[in-house]
Amino acid sequence: MSQTITMTELPRRQTVTEKPIARPVARKQRTWHEADAPYTFANDDLEWERLNGVHRAIKEYLGNRVTLAPIEDLLPAPKKILELGAGTGVWATDVANMFPDATVTAVDISFNNIRNPPRNVVLKQLNLLEGFPFEPESFDIVHMRFLLVHMPNFPDLIKKCSAALRPGGLLLLEDIDQNLYSVDGDVPDSIKTFYKHYHGHMAKSGVDGETGAKIEGVLHGLNQFSEIHVHNMPAPISGPYTDDPKLNKMGVEMRKSLGKAYDGIWGKMPSSGLTQEIHDNMIRDAHDHDRKIYMDFYWTWARKAEKEPETQTLYQQAWSWWEYLVETGWWILGY
Ligand SMILES: C[S@@+](CC[C@H](N)C(=O)[O-])C[C@H]1O[C@@H](n2cnc3c(N)ncnc32)[C@H](O)[C@@H]1O
Repeated sequence: MSQTITMTELPRRQTVTEKPIARPVARKQRTWHEADAPYTFANDDLEWERLNGVHRAIKEYLGNRVTLAPIEDLLPAPKKILELGAGTGVWATDVANMFPDATVTAVDISFNNIRNPPRNVVLKQLNLLEGFPFEPESFDIVHMRFLLVHMPNFPDLIKKCSAALRPGGLLLLEDIDQNLYSVDGDVPDSIKTFYKHYHGHMAKSGVDGETGAKIEGVLHGLNQFSEIHVHNMPAPISGPYTDDPKLNKMGVEMRKSLGKAYDGIWGKMPSSGLTQEIHDNMIRDAHDHDRKIYMDFYWTWARKAEKEPETQTLYQQAWSWWEYLVETGWWILGY
């Protein structure tokens, strides 16, 4: 005997399936910021854990330092520090504690994980694609880590940061080439496929996922710096297999980071062609210890040139003298 069931009588589980499912559901449900920006990484606890873990690993690699540049020697008493794309605020917090007399302005699209920052950290919620409200030559130090690799037209952001830096100030740019490679060239197809989709999607918004190596060239092009330094760190992702224990540890952390950063990302970029399967295959092969897979990290820092004292032309010097004589009335003596 057939039975008619109206919608209201259907069990709850079935009615739920009637809603359109906008995106595939990741194993852990991820959340993302809602700002109008191409940034694809999540803004949830797993992401904060990842960013803090990488920060700790970087400090250990650098011998308990927050950056490669000898900032304490070059600028022992900075007053104004700007950090863009501050994430959990972990760098801004460390630097604020290092320089208690400085004000550290930490900028991000969203700040749902900075709790109890030191009193000298100022949080500024801002989508950098919608404005750059900082005075020219107003900061002693400007820092960006893992931001340029997510930003459309990254050279333009470097240019704006340089303009916001005072002469003699330090620009600290730390980023990766968002790609995996092997020294013998044997990169598994799974990795190539993942990055083909990822970079293809990001390129539509003007994001270059391989910025790390290009930062130095952009800085030279600006022609505003008296010194530019670059340190390339190839992190051994599927390691440990280098002779440097610190580098091996960095590789382990970057491997963990890879698993967390991209987990569920296909939900944020449904038109990219990325799927959970493509992701899982990439992660599996990036963890394959028999392959020596690396990701490049670049520490770049530059010092803005001091202003040259203005030199006057002969004509300008003669004119200044004439004005001086007229003002003081000495020309009357000529009569
Ligand atoms: C990969 S995280 C790096 C966080 C931090 N710099 C670190 O090293 O731990 C990039 C950060 O940049 C922020 N971000 C991305 N696009 C942005 C934009 N258009 N304006 C401001 N912040 C942005 C993200 O919200 C995220 O917190």
